[in-house]
Amino acid sequence: MSHFDNLHSLTSSITAVTSPLRQYLHELHSKYHPLTDGVVANYIPELALADPALFGIAVVTTDGQIFEVGDSTTLFTSQAISKAFVYGLALEDHGRDYITSKVGLEATGEAFNAILLDEKNNRPYNPMVNGGAIAITNLIKGQHPTERLKRILDMFKRYTGHSHDISMPVFLSEKATGHRNRAMAFLMLNVGIVSDNLEETLDLYFQQCSILVTARDLAMMGATLANGGVNPITQERAIDAQYVQDVISVMLTCGMYNYSGEWACRVGIPAKSGVGGGITAVVPGQLGIGTFSPLLDDKGNSIRGIKVYQDLSKDFGLHLFNATRCDRDLNAWTKGSPVDARS
Ligand code: DON
Repeated sequence: MSHFDNLHSLTSSITAVTSPLRQYLHELHSKYHPLTDGVVANYIPELALADPALFGIAVVTTDGQIFEVGDSTTLFTSQAISKAFVYGLALEDHGRDYITSKVGLEATGEAFNAILLDEKNNRPYNPMVNGGAIAITNLIKGQHPTERLKRILDMFKRYTGHSHDISMPVFLSEKATGHRNRAMAFLMLNVGIVSDNLEETLDLYFQQCSILVTARDLAMMGATLANGGVNPITQERAIDAQYVQDVISVMLTCGMYNYSGEWACRVGIPAKSGVGGGITAVVPGQLGIGTFSPLLDDKGNSIRGIKVYQDLSKDFGLHLFNATRCDRDLNAWTKGSPVDARS
């Protein structure tokens, strides 16, 4: 009997409250919770205090169903996940041509904090490496620092449906120790990529990284992108529809740091990772996924998170380039039989 046949017999007599997907997520959680490989991020001192046992998974469908298991409502800092969404805001502020003239769209294969610029084009390689993200944050409009931060927080609220706080300890910790990012910012100032309000921009960048989210929020943010930019519960538009594909594309090409190429092959779901332990992912037209587990591999990606996505992609055929994916009926695997969903 296959995994799915088993699941089917387990769930067939139960109501939709315990759908096959919910049961499946419970199994995944139990399967990978014992995994204790990896370390919590420690280059930002405050992140080193994270509890390595925490582990949450959430899925939100574009028709607004929420499935979650484990520590899916535990708060942690968004870190680099914010980069993808702030990129969308910068596109809204300035348009595609201007933003692309400032920050490129090519993956680097280097670590996220590499001191590296595309010297030929005088710009950072992409908006997901630190240099690119800081240059993007530099472009967020606002009369003063508070207004710029408020615009980012309001954007998060549109994606998740609720307001967000900033972790002051994490913000201050990164502000006190983020010398490498400061060096990168000054390098970009030297070659005219960023304007000279650098301390303000760095504060804003450290603040966006310190925005508190949950795995459920990440799933909702992914689902909002999957739904063309409209939050599937509140029905509020979070991002101009014309930029949704840009954000999802950079997630696929650069979202998992220097693991992005392998992720694209093995998982094939556009995603963005953060050193707080979160991963948010988008299955266009269908759902968003959020995971949280702070144990990271040497590239800065959540180890349990990667395992979860590998299984989800394989078991439900979610790889973007799986030709049969688009023919599936969502209801078959949220309410009905996962066997049907795979066929
Ligand atoms: O720039 C940093 O180091 C963090 N605030 C963001 C880190 C992260 O999640 C990985 N990547 N860029």
